[in-house]
Amino acid sequence: MSDLTQFQHPRFARRYIGISDRLEQLGVGDLRRELLQGLHGCVVDVGCGDGKNFRHYPPTVTRVVAVEPDDVLRRHAEQNAASAAVPVDVVAGHADDVPVADGSADAVVMTLVLCSVPDLGTALTEVNRVLRPGGELRFGEHVRAQNRVAALAQDALTPLSRRVDGNCHQNRDTAAALERSPLTVTRLRRFGLRVAALLPGQPMIVGTAVKPPTGP
Ligand SMILES: C[S@@+](CC[C@H](N)C(=O)[O-])C[C@H]1O[C@@H](n2cnc3c(N)ncnc32)[C@H](O)[C@@H]1O
Repeated sequence: MSDLTQFQHPRFARRYIGISDRLEQLGVGDLRRELLQGLHGCVVDVGCGDGKNFRHYPPTVTRVVAVEPDDVLRRHAEQNAASAAVPVDVVAGHADDVPVADGSADAVVMTLVLCSVPDLGTALTEVNRVLRPGGELRFGEHVRAQNRVAALAQDALTPLSRRVDGNCHQNRDTAAALERSPLTVTRLRRFGLRVAALLPGQPMIVGTAVKPPTGP
């Protein structure tokens, strides 16, 4: 099994559980449901956190392999898996070394994860490996702002967010990385997620990227 030491962020993990509970009330639960609708078969949820996606998987999903490197979040995910509507196996692992066979997943799900992986290109190549030809990545991520001033502010904040928020990069251009990846982006919606009345919306992307049916 991979060495997961570098992915342990217990203080962030405990804080994130509270934050993600509040985000559910602020409409993020509806976003999760929208993102996951229509999925079927075997789904790999990479960086599943405490398992906030689990209750939103439709009954057409036959199995979820939920991969989480952080020990604190994985324990909470195991508890949430027990009450999920579909079968969920929670396993230790990380995005650069997903413990799933080549071409075995009908879909991979990544929500609020690509901001934290060591390298976007490596993680997306690994997604391509585990997907079957024609399989899809469903992503929901906060990203680099398109407004130049806001992006500069994200650049300034990123050293702090990496330190206190489990290697979270505020300033990642994940949409550009998806375009460079072996996957084909078939749907991408940008919007601002408002988490507090006085704060600007956090720039987000949600969408789908497909592994070409005859791809490598
Ligand atoms: C902001 S939380 C999001 C959790 C969950 N996906 C959700 O939607 O609530 C970021 C998650 O990414 C995980 N993570 C960080 N680095 C990772 C990596 N290299 N591979 C997989 N997961 C990673 C963290 O442990 C954490 O669970």
